[in-house]
Amino acid sequence: MMRTHRCGELRTEHVGRQVTLTGWVNRRREHGEHLAFVDIRDYSGITQVVVDNSVDVRSEYVIAVTGVVTARTPDTINADLATGEIELKECSVEVLSAAEPPPFPIDERADNVDEMIRLKYRYLDLRRSRMQRNLRVRSQVNAAVRQAMYRQDFVEVETPMLMPSTPEGAREFLVPSRQKPGNFYALPQSPQLYKQLLMVGGLDRYFQVARCLRDEDLRADRQYEFMQLDLEMSFAAVDDVLGAAEVSVLDAAEAVTGVRPDAVPRITWHEAMNRFGSDKPDLRFDMELVELTPIFSDTGFKAFETAESIKGIKVPGGAAEYGRNKLDNLTDQAKSSGAKGMVWLKVTDGSTFDSPVAKFISESETAALIAATDAVAGDLLLLIADDWMTTCEVLGDLRNRIARPPVSEGPYRYVWVVEFPLFVGVDATTGRPKPGHHAFCHPHPDDLDLLETDPMSVRALAYDLVLNGWELGSGSIRIHDHRLQRRVFELLGIDEEEADRRFGFFLEPFKYGAPPHGGFAYGLERLAAILAGEENIREVIAFPKPQSGLDPMTGAPSDVDTAQLNELGIRLLPPAV
Ligand code: AMO
Repeated sequence: MMRTHRCGELRTEHVGRQVTLTGWVNRRREHGEHLAFVDIRDYSGITQVVVDNSVDVRSEYVIAVTGVVTARTPDTINADLATGEIELKECSVEVLSAAEPPPFPIDERADNVDEMIRLKYRYLDLRRSRMQRNLRVRSQVNAAVRQAMYRQDFVEVETPMLMPSTPEGAREFLVPSRQKPGNFYALPQSPQLYKQLLMVGGLDRYFQVARCLRDEDLRADRQYEFMQLDLEMSFAAVDDVLGAAEVSVLDAAEAVTGVRPDAVPRITWHEAMNRFGSDKPDLRFDMELVELTPIFSDTGFKAFETAESIKGIKVPGGAAEYGRNKLDNLTDQAKSSGAKGMVWLKVTDGSTFDSPVAKFISESETAALIAATDAVAGDLLLLIADDWMTTCEVLGDLRNRIARPPVSEGPYRYVWVVEFPLFVGVDATTGRPKPGHHAFCHPHPDDLDLLETDPMSVRALAYDLVLNGWELGSGSIRIHDHRLQRRVFELLGIDEEEADRRFGFFLEPFKYGAPPHGGFAYGLERLAAILAGEENIREVIAFPKPQSGLDPMTGAPSDVDTAQLNELGIRLLPPAV
């Protein structure tokens, strides 16, 4: 062994022992005429080493130090350091690798360094305690979820990275074929198709720590490449799937934080929209949407007269805080999320409003509004009147904008959102309903009779897991009966021929005896980021892409030899201007 201990390990109980540490020079300080203090660092921490100042080591040199563990005098104890009560003396130092000065400091000061620099030198960034901790959180999460799945009799199966292009979902990454020039594989957006075929194949319970690829615009919670804990179960109902997934998520949370979260509550999609204005409700704060439609049933206020749904939120004490500018900004946000306008009302003395539209609101409406929202003087009310969905969504956006803490801020509030609608909205060109999740979700058995008569009201056996307002994962019970699948395709305007053309390789196997099945997948980076207290999943990925998608460290994507292109039958167009 090159070392006897790690750099974060030594305590007063080791005093008197000769030890060898290996690691990087974190910092060097000269001390008097003959001595220097060198902090040696590895992933576990830092130890102070006292050396002769003739020793030529500088920041980020890789060294091995052999010395004697010595107690520091009380006035030199460093309470900020786990090893702060000791230091190494009588040291001999071996340089294992010299180093050029790093382009940025390898400590928390690097948090303020331009992200492109951090990513260009990611291997240096990774030496920092923040990144060391975050990648170890990822590893703990992976280990915990794997164990949870094995324990529940799931079988780990790998599915292909090279698959046919499928028309559904996000934009795919394509891989040109050399054997069949002009043809392409697609990289998987998820193992969805294969995992369902594994059910047809009798695997019963499958899981995979699966790499997925989607050519989407990058955001705090999105990368081109990400990992899912992906699962699928045969002969399973919603409760079985939610139960199995929940065990793995809570095991991971417990492994990282040491605290097991409570059982995850469930609310229906309808309730989530109605109360929080979002299908990913953040339950860490209140400010719930208040139903106001009945109050205005006979109103003379034009803006409210014909609205299907009127709701509001109350910003406690918001009257003073929200001046004209801030209210204009909120109105702009409401409009950009689809509202025709936003009504604001400042509660003045507990029974009247200060608002440009106060004069249109009758005395009895005012009293009813204040009672319904439990408002007191100084509160601010924001009202939206529109169709139900728009009203909910706009107020949900406002609620988040006004009161939502950063995603990583405790406490952790998990929630299952169940019974998503089978269809959302109508396709502008075909006039047909659009699938809420995908075309293979099982309709709620109680709503099967409504499929043809009132499709938009049909619920699906589809569910999401939400943590602190982030969607962690989603899934559904799938259609396994080809007659039901036909009915759903018909509603979507997909005839048999088109279904065969688009989904043939997927539908054919279902003719050979498919078990009832369902599944779920959640993003491991999203879970790890929140558990690590990070706002961006990049911070829990060793080598992520920056927002531009271009990797400053490797230069990817890069051009390739013409010979390579020729082999693939690809000729490039001149760059678009
Ligand atoms: P879905 O598309 O909702 O479902 O994805 C499941 C989860 O994967 C994570 N995720 C991402 N994480 C980082 N970057 C991305 N670009 C990204 N896209 C998705 C999210 C998301 O909730 N096959 C279905 C699941 C099923 O029905 O079983 C699926 O992939 O955390």
